[in-house]
Amino acid sequence: MGRVALVTGGSRGIGEAISKALNAKGYSVAATYAGNDQKAAAFTEETGIKTYKWNVADYDASAAGIARVTEEIGAIDTVVANAGITRDAPFHRMTPAQWNEVVDTNLTGVFNTVHPVWPGMRERKFGRVIVISSVNGQKGQFGQVNYAATKAGDLGIVKSLAQEGARAGITANAICPGYIATEMVMAIDESIRQKIISGIPAGRLGTPEEIARCVTFLASEDSGFISGSTISANGAQFFS
Ligand code: CAA
Repeated sequence: MGRVALVTGGSRGIGEAISKALNAKGYSVAATYAGNDQKAAAFTEETGIKTYKWNVADYDASAAGIARVTEEIGAIDTVVANAGITRDAPFHRMTPAQWNEVVDTNLTGVFNTVHPVWPGMRERKFGRVIVISSVNGQKGQFGQVNYAATKAGDLGIVKSLAQEGARAGITANAICPGYIATEMVMAIDESIRQKIISGIPAGRLGTPEEIARCVTFLASEDSGFISGSTISANGAQFFS
């Protein structure tokens, strides 16, 4: 049976690798993006995966977008809440705007993405909810009070959803990537990044594909008894 997967932030970075990996496993994939039309068009041209533009921070836009995906591709049974942003600053310089943007996108965005698909999953008695959290939600990070709070919040979301979804055949799990070679990590000042890498026992950044493989594992039919869990993929940087 063909499964339909929604990947938010699915045309770039870790999300791009997730969309491609699910597509390669036979899922019909809808990848959302927020702003970069050019990259999204190139991604569709390369992969054949359809992209949809909406802001995950906006509930009505998410619900309308999900209704469109359902109509055009089919009922969504696998949702990967991946879209996320950083607005790093030491707490004493962090502005309310930096706090709100990150909370609205990374945390409320997960609610906005999962809530509209949840009733259908309950009705069909199958669902896979996978939230991309972060090592920094587990350990905290200098300069990321906002981001770490949202990524820790993701873990609360999946542990609660796991309990609510269990009887309906829905699993909910989180993946906590460590530092992965994406634009987000490459945007960190070079000297700070090198210091971070020197603190990773594996001695390197992770790859987006290494995270995508965690997703395909959790998404599979065979992973039905794994729920409320967290996979840490961080090169042994941190153990929770
Ligand atoms: N621990 C303790 N002190 C630290 C520190 C740390 N980790 N990082 C910086 N400091 C200190 C600095 O040494 C400096 O001290 P002095 O003034 O005494 O020299 C002071 O804090 C200010 O540091 P900066 O000069 O770096 O300050 P800044 O305002 O220019 O930059 C910052 C602040 C933007 C937070 C910058 O430090 C930074 O980018 N840090 C990296 C944050 C990070 O890891 N972000 C992850 C992004 S990727 C991601 O989020 C994906 C994922 O899930 C992993």
